[in-house]
Amino acid sequence: MPGMPSLAKRSFYVCQLCGLQAPKWMGRCSGCGEWDSLIEERAAAASTPLQETSDDLLSYTDLDSGDSPRIATGNAEFDRVLGGGLVPGGLILLGGEPGIGKSTLVLQVADGLAHSGRKVLYLAGEESPQQIRLRGERLAVNGKALFLATDTRLESILSQAATLKPDLLIIDSIQTVHSSRLESIPGSVSQIRECAALFMEFAKKHHLPILLIGHINKEGALAGPKMLEHVVDVVLYFEGERHQNQKIVRTVKNRFGPINELGIFEMTGTGLVAIENPSRLFLAERALDVPGSVVVCSLEGSRPVLVEMQALVSRSRYSTARRMCSGVDPNRVSLLLAMLEKRLGLELLGTDVYVNVAGGLSLLEPAADLAILASMLSSLRERPVDPRTVVFGEVGLAGEIRAVNRALVRIKEAATLGFTRALLPKSNLPLSENHEGIQLIGVSSVSDFLRALDRDSPEILE
Ligand code: TYD
Ligand code: MG
Repeated sequence: MPGMPSLAKRSFYVCQLCGLQAPKWMGRCSGCGEWDSLIEERAAAASTPLQETSDDLLSYTDLDSGDSPRIATGNAEFDRVLGGGLVPGGLILLGGEPGIGKSTLVLQVADGLAHSGRKVLYLAGEESPQQIRLRGERLAVNGKALFLATDTRLESILSQAATLKPDLLIIDSIQTVHSSRLESIPGSVSQIRECAALFMEFAKKHHLPILLIGHINKEGALAGPKMLEHVVDVVLYFEGERHQNQKIVRTVKNRFGPINELGIFEMTGTGLVAIENPSRLFLAERALDVPGSVVVCSLEGSRPVLVEMQALVSRSRYSTARRMCSGVDPNRVSLLLAMLEKRLGLELLGTDVYVNVAGGLSLLEPAADLAILASMLSSLRERPVDPRTVVFGEVGLAGEIRAVNRALVRIKEAATLGFTRALLPKSNLPLSENHEGIQLIGVSSVSDFLRALDRDSPEILE
């Protein structure tokens, strides 16, 4: 069409936060509402013609799934979040805030693999070889089969990988890599997209697992990594706070295994160390007999974890009451508060509510509902919950307590750690196995639950 710019030269504006593309610059992104987030990028020249001869079609029945066994990295926590190890050809994204421990973890994993005789190519785009060496010395890295690359041009990395034929390629980080096919700067949305797509193609072609590291900040911004979620096979995120010593890696997406698996580590002077018994860690600093605290047995992934749920409910001094949550979904808390007002007739409109999961863990599953409820009620009524009681269950809007999955596993974990009483959904009972030393109390409604809680409160126990 006359007057239309050709595709090769077309430039457009991309929001660096949400990835929206616009033909013209806007002061404010119409997609996500962010100010001044659009920058100019240029489309790549179309490198391949639209019609080209392609490989023959594959018959489904000829496909073979069994010829590419997983590669265990030897780091048990990391293998767990991967669903049992690296899958040849799998593209993995490891995201997290700067300084949370991404480079430390991958260097430890790389060294472990190098020690088992596998070759690892590590692209250190963010740090100088000296800096890597310094970190490596702290971690006692000495694997002979670990190779470092420092050239951040995508084409150069891929050619090095094609020559070396490593068993794992690590890109630290995707924000530093750039392809010469695009004019935009490294870290821009177009570069990240393009590079990820090329890494994916390379991974599949060479049956090479590739681990991409991506920085995200608190708001999940610097769009890059978030946008990559649908491209890559596996998405792992570091959770929790940077200043906390315990570091949690969660599987957010996994084309080869289960999601929501947790890897729990402690950052020490010599790197990340796996935490064998996370429940003990999360309960270590618990204050006993304080109103607003209750222990929940949550099943994040395949592993049960006991954590302390804390709440503070008090009359508000402000015209609008405050609601703040950390580690739980704020919508869930609002829902539970509305339910309490309606079903138990509590007056909660003018109260500030703060809910927190101790230890920086996020509890995503609805089984945490009952603990949120118990902690809020305990704080509201200034009545501590018996410290040897554990609670779990999903709460519905009608005030009904709904069954959760794998109750037996949760009870076993609670019994192992010395809990003597569990309040759980009645519909989960009876369990398929008996458990000595822990009393099981089934509750079917919120009022039922309240009565059971009161019976458990230390004032009432003799
Ligand atoms: P790093 O892995 O570089 O974080 P990221 O790659 O996610 O930006 O480092 C995380 C922090 O951990 C850093 O502040 C230094 C600290 N650290 C230790 O406490 N012990 C160690 O053995 C190492 C290597 C780092
Ligand atoms: Mg780093």
